[in-house]
Amino acid sequence: MRITEIEVANYRNLKQQQVLPHGGLNIFVGNNAQGKTNLVESVYLCCIGKSPRTDKDKDLVCWGKDHAVVKVQYQCRFGEGEIAIDLFANKKKQVAINSVPIAKMGELMGYLNCIYFSPNEIRIISQSPQERRRFLDIDLCQMDKGYFYSLQRFNKALQQRNTLIKQCMSVEQAKQTIFVWDEQIAEEGAKIFAKRRAFCQKLQTIAQSTHQKLTEGEESLTAQYVSQINGQTTQEIRQNYLALLEKSLEKDFQLRHTSVGCQRDDVMLKINDVDVRNFGSQGQQRTVALSLKLSELQIFKQLTGEYPVLLLDDVLSELDLNRQKRLLNFDSNLQILLTTATPLADELATKCKTFQIVDGVCTETK
Ligand SMILES: Nc1ncnc2c1ncn2[C@@H]1O[C@H](COP(=O)(O)OP(=O)(O)OP(=O)(O)O)[C@@H](O)[C@H]1O
Ligand SMILES: [Mg+2]
Repeated sequence: MRITEIEVANYRNLKQQQVLPHGGLNIFVGNNAQGKTNLVESVYLCCIGKSPRTDKDKDLVCWGKDHAVVKVQYQCRFGEGEIAIDLFANKKKQVAINSVPIAKMGELMGYLNCIYFSPNEIRIISQSPQERRRFLDIDLCQMDKGYFYSLQRFNKALQQRNTLIKQCMSVEQAKQTIFVWDEQIAEEGAKIFAKRRAFCQKLQTIAQSTHQKLTEGEESLTAQYVSQINGQTTQEIRQNYLALLEKSLEKDFQLRHTSVGCQRDDVMLKINDVDVRNFGSQGQQRTVALSLKLSELQIFKQLTGEYPVLLLDDVLSELDLNRQKRLLNFDSNLQILLTTATPLADELATKCKTFQIVDGVCTETK
């Protein structure tokens, strides 16, 4: 997959303009605060319908303006496509795929596939389980629309269960109606669990060899999905899930929230059998984040038949030259949009298209 044109207007500090990336490596160079991250963020918005930096869409509209536009044209193995997003300061955004407006954000998933890598992504490794679940969810939503809708229904049912627990005066009172939510949670939770676990199994195999290559065979990486839920078939998982919810009701009532289930799961990442989150050095954590990103590319390729677009926001300076090379020469069929404040080493910047970003305006320089 490759992006052929990005059109923006009033998106954060970006002025109205068109950017024409080529199929390989595209480098966006600029000083701090010129709009580099804003540009890749606008592309990612067209991919998952959300900014990786904020949940507030109105923050994406240039201050003082009431309307912003992002339009991305792309080519994939099925042909060409266009995602257009209109953002407003005072109302909900509108998304159109090939000029047809969509009613639900889930419809956007799977059209323009991108992997986003920024220094913040180290959070996947170093911070709470929520970050690792978010990492799985973003990928799975792009690969599988059904997953996106399961997640939506799951979150809604979980919220309802939590509200009910808070409102009831006793466990007995909660028992009268809670089964409605328990059944929905178990139904969708079983699908989420099974898909996340399968994804982690794939990730484990690919990430292990990717990481070994990146560390010249010194480190062995494992990624395991950790959950209180278990079972093989979806039916079995669903029954286990339901039993778990029923068993924890009293405890949940005391805690005033649901303490078991998918919303508590984690991915255990280990290097040479040691937990990376607690004991990995910063460099190790960064390399694991990179291994995961490269593995995501390969999983997408296996599943969809082509690479997604790789968005690299300011991550190069964090890696040594060897790792930079491996990343940028990953595969000639991979389109990369890379931002950097410092120009790349000459040996890295071959066969690339370079752009300069100054005060929200992007100009091609090579
Ligand atoms: N809604 C908005 N309207 C106008 N400007 C905004 C808006 N949101 C953010 N900005 C500004 O856009 C500018 C560029 O931000 P961006 O994050 O793209 O910088 P950058 O080029 O990636 O810099 P760095 O190298 O420091 O990462 C910042 O000065 C920021 O304050
Ligand atoms: Mg930036």
